[in-house]
Amino acid sequence: MAQLPALVLAGSVPAAAVSALPTALPTRPGDGTPRVLGRPPIEVAALLEREKAKGEAGELIAIPVEDRVLLLGTGDGSPAALRKAGAAVARRAKQQESLALDLRRLDLTDDSLRALAEGLLLGSYGFTLKPSAEPRPLTRITIVVAKPDTMRPALERALAVIRAVASARDLVNTPALEKNPSWLAAQAKSLLKGLPVSVRDDAQLRAEGWGGVTAVGMGSSRPPRVVEATYDGGGTQHVVLVGKGITFDTGGISIKPNDGMLTMKMDMGGAAAVLATLRAVADLKLQVKVTAIACAAENMPSGTAQRPSDVITQYGGTTVEVLNTDAEGRLVLADGIAYADRVLAADVIVDVATLTGAMPVALGRKIAGLFTNDDALCSQLEKAAEASGERVWRMPLTPDYRRALESETADLRNIGDPRLKLSGGSITAALFLQEFAGGRRWAHLDIAGPGWSGSDDEELTKGGTGYGVRLLTRWLEQLAAAPKRSRRAS
Ligand code: BES
Ligand code: MN
Ligand code: ZN
Repeated sequence: MAQLPALVLAGSVPAAAVSALPTALPTRPGDGTPRVLGRPPIEVAALLEREKAKGEAGELIAIPVEDRVLLLGTGDGSPAALRKAGAAVARRAKQQESLALDLRRLDLTDDSLRALAEGLLLGSYGFTLKPSAEPRPLTRITIVVAKPDTMRPALERALAVIRAVASARDLVNTPALEKNPSWLAAQAKSLLKGLPVSVRDDAQLRAEGWGGVTAVGMGSSRPPRVVEATYDGGGTQHVVLVGKGITFDTGGISIKPNDGMLTMKMDMGGAAAVLATLRAVADLKLQVKVTAIACAAENMPSGTAQRPSDVITQYGGTTVEVLNTDAEGRLVLADGIAYADRVLAADVIVDVATLTGAMPVALGRKIAGLFTNDDALCSQLEKAAEASGERVWRMPLTPDYRRALESETADLRNIGDPRLKLSGGSITAALFLQEFAGGRRWAHLDIAGPGWSGSDDEELTKGGTGYGVRLLTRWLEQLAAAPKRSRRAS
């Protein structure tokens, strides 16, 4: 479904591709840029001065008369600047068939090439269900570099990640009429072809005690599923990624107002991210063992739905008083996290979820909340966030808020007790999840903000963003590359 242009490297500007030739413009105008360009020739320095060019990342200046040549600002030349520049030029060229970027004057590293490719391709991503939609004009982008052969492996790695992001966006953008839990499981199987993928159906889930997934899913005529898939590239650690896969969140009996559910097909963005990350990790052949668990259910109000005040039993035996059926994400995740702890004996658990409406209130739409019980894991994820462009901000697991989750009838309640007036809905949700990690190294990414974009914005396109794929893949790449921990005391 995703429509992405092809991206190739070349050593010289291909004659056929010269429908536009954006030329990288270094920070200081005139520096490194040819003196004259276009037909008739234009004095570049004078043009830049006239246009008050600053060379900021993504700045575009067309050569007058022959507007087939664009000058592209590349800012400080950092990966972040090139990601932004790539998205800007791809958007400008989207009505053309092909685009070439002559970057021979830039010193591209593997990381800056990757970021540039992300900007170019993810910024060109399109999704439509209109049968009449024309194919997108921009089908081929050529990057001209001095030594294309030496950069090709890095481009291949970048493309593996970009394709994974695009498939996560496709999963999120598919409307929930089509996207039910069994559809998501079937998509997981085709996305993860070549890897062992198992799918638990509702009968198995009930029999094995996945009480959270069962309770959330039982209001829908389209029963829940749990997908489990593993890639084993060796290494010493078993990483388990758990994704929230609510294919549509109406709130259940605690129903949301219409406006609150308009974007709720996105509520499986965590599941999409962990499945697509597994695809990327396998394509990159990373030396690490990763299991992805997608807990999929549709949260619907009906005669068979769970009721506020029901008490359910999560995987592993913890009982939960369900006081609000709209706090359903933590119920499905708790089963997956408990399974990762008790059965998979994970070395590290990372869950990804569009969990709380309070998260984008706190951090806005571009930054995920990161909650973790491990400072080293926190630094690793922060480092991966910086490199990948998918930002995180650490949030506290405030121990004294834990009492808001105490229940008189069960081990836990699923929403913070409003009588205590503690607020902090994202924190109490994270504290709820922590109960199921069994003290293992664990991180929780609340992606309710960055999982969805309201508009085209740099490398993001309106709709599902695929947030988490770039971040987690980068983290796992760094983990796989890290020298094995020395056993000697330091
Ligand atoms: N899926 C929502 C959270 C959400 C809201 C994600 C907006 C993306 C954008 C989640 O299941 C939910 O409904 N959370 C409730 C929890 C509350 C009932 C304690 C919320 O945040 O309002
Ligand atoms: Mn909800
Ligand atoms: Zn939800």
